[in-house]
Amino acid sequence: MSRGPGGLTKLLLDAPAAQGAIYLHGAHVAHWQPNGHTPVLWMSRQSNYAEDKPIRGGVPICFPWFGPNLQDSKAPAHGLARLHAWKLSAVARTSSQGIACELTADLAPFQLTYRVEFDQVLRLSLTTRLSSSHDRPARYEDALHTYFAVSDVRNITIEGLQSVDYIDKVDQAKKKTATGEAIQITSETDRVYLNTTHACRLLDPGQHRTILVEKTGSRSTIVWNPWIDKSAKMPDFGDDEWPEMVCIETANVGDHAIELQPGGAHKTMP
Ligand code: BG6
Repeated sequence: MSRGPGGLTKLLLDAPAAQGAIYLHGAHVAHWQPNGHTPVLWMSRQSNYAEDKPIRGGVPICFPWFGPNLQDSKAPAHGLARLHAWKLSAVARTSSQGIACELTADLAPFQLTYRVEFDQVLRLSLTTRLSSSHDRPARYEDALHTYFAVSDVRNITIEGLQSVDYIDKVDQAKKKTATGEAIQITSETDRVYLNTTHACRLLDPGQHRTILVEKTGSRSTIVWNPWIDKSAKMPDFGDDEWPEMVCIETANVGDHAIELQPGGAHKTMP
């Protein structure tokens, strides 16, 4: 454990297969570098590091709502988990020369367990349990909001969503039908792909790298790049940083929110 910027507690993990870093603030994975590769996750140089603000980049956890809270406009965007002080419950080497850690958070009536395995593959798994003493079922949304480092977002391709309908958040949240084409980012992009369990492939010829994003327990995928104007409006995102990143988020949002019975649990895994 060490103190990172803003005094936030940071866990640095180093194993033969990979290096990683995770903040207890938000259980925020901030670094993953499989041996022999450049870092896979993108972090903003303008990120806040403070207990009352989310970290920009890496893998924020959105929970128990995604985006603005529709019942309470003062509640933080993307929920409470990314602002919560998580507890570290375990760290252990894996059989494949990687290193894993587990963090927990009590966000009543839910209990969260997050397992992160830094290896040649980054394995994330977010388990949500509804307390058995809760008197009724409860619903939540979640997203593992992964920011990938790319050579230039204008030259990447994302495959796997060409047959999937989506909500276009940059066009008045209209529902749009599948384009039939792999995704190329040519302007601000903020799409919630609906009812998809498909894996995505992120092709980055500039880095000679293809990233496979597989998932289970997730029926929505969000693809986001803020492009020029939106970047300029975000204080914790550099004006010139938008070409360096793309988010492919493993999620359960909107109609695909998860409903748990008291004592029930669900696992979301990209
Ligand atoms: C994406 C949303 O998941 O996150 C976007 O679809 C949002 O609408 C983006 O702008 C970043 O959100 P935030 O709260 O981290 O600035």
